[in-house]
Amino acid sequence: MTSTARVGLVGCGAISRAYASTIARLPDLDLVACADLDPTRAQALATEVGIPLVLAPDALVEHPDVEVVLNLTIPVAHAAVSRAALAAGRHAYSEKPLALDVADARELVHLADRRGVRLGSAPDTFLGGGLQTCRGLLDSGAIGAPIAATALMLGAGPESWHPSPQPFYDPGAGPLYDMGVYYVTALVHLLGPVRSVIAGARIGRDRRPITSQPLAGTDLVVRVPTHVAALLEHTSGVLSTLVTSFDVPASRYHRGIEIHGADATLAVPDPNTFGGPVELRARGEDDWTDVPLTHPNVVDCRGLGLADMVRAARTGRAHRASGELALHVLEVLERILGSATSGHRETIEHQVDQPMPLPAGLPELETGD
Ligand SMILES: NC(=O)c1ccc[n+]([C@@H]2O[C@H](COP(=O)([O-])OP(=O)(O)OC[C@H]3O[C@@H](n4cnc5c(N)ncnc54)[C@H](O)[C@@H]3O)[C@@H](O)[C@H]2O)c1
Repeated sequence: MTSTARVGLVGCGAISRAYASTIARLPDLDLVACADLDPTRAQALATEVGIPLVLAPDALVEHPDVEVVLNLTIPVAHAAVSRAALAAGRHAYSEKPLALDVADARELVHLADRRGVRLGSAPDTFLGGGLQTCRGLLDSGAIGAPIAATALMLGAGPESWHPSPQPFYDPGAGPLYDMGVYYVTALVHLLGPVRSVIAGARIGRDRRPITSQPLAGTDLVVRVPTHVAALLEHTSGVLSTLVTSFDVPASRYHRGIEIHGADATLAVPDPNTFGGPVELRARGEDDWTDVPLTHPNVVDCRGLGLADMVRAARTGRAHRASGELALHVLEVLERILGSATSGHRETIEHQVDQPMPLPAGLPELETGD
């Protein structure tokens, strides 16, 4: 790969603008081409952000100017688009989830290995200033030995604000896959891989009234569990309680994660964001202490995982938002629903190394090469 990596973007929808804006801030990434099943969308993005080539998706992954394929299509298309890119010998970085199921995700990881190219996946919010500051605190022993974590994503569902909420209630989504993926990725980053899970899940209501425009007055059909409660046993022995829900009308608990150690509790920010706040409260203290962030990347930096992957490919080191990590996280999600159905504790087969932390004190959007 040359010093500037040439990126081709597939899937020119809502989130593509956030990636294009990050890439525009990165001198070592160049957005050279875009593609979409709907060519008018591709043309619109190209005109809006100044992308030289508008291609068909099949042509983009084969195009000689494209070294890295950025897959921002819808979840059901993720595996096929990444597979085509890897088969063409291109590095591939996908929005979450890496694939709809573990079998497809594992095949992608193996294909990337065989082709000698990199595979990466969102979420990359764990590279943000908030979660990196938390990782530094844990690694330096600020809370003593971690014992347990509580991770809560308690919401009422997106049908009050999202213009098209049905896909959130279809297989491959629901609170666990749509939002839980950020929480589990953050937990693995902070506390290491997960050894086993046990869980319960239910559908709160089979049909739900949409109150957002333009579909207000119609119902959506619920096809996935909307309240999922799980216990994750990390390889380290730490126990994380994870609850993701679209069935909570109101709650006094904020979205986020708390990690309880022998000496203190660490309040981790919402893992669907890059910034803070980070708070610490030692055993016996009356109040929380705000911890200044030790790392940059606090505003939306979607695509930082892609930049880290490209830089890692140049120097030969491991990249952080890797296909292996996404596969592990996807297996945790899949086994959570499996355990909720079987009633049994489920073991996680595909283990992964805890991603390396970012060095403190880096400039924004640098990843430490
Ligand atoms: N929108 C967000 O705020 C957000 C946030 C985080 C993650 N994501 C993830 O990003 C991905 C994209 O989300 P979005 O909101 O941009 O969706 P979107 O529906 O706005 O855009 C997806 C685009 O992909 C195109 N597409 C679908 N299948 C394709 C294929 N096989 N080949 C080429 N193009 C194809 C569609 O035509 C569409 O233009 C999803 O996986 C989603 O989970 C979105």
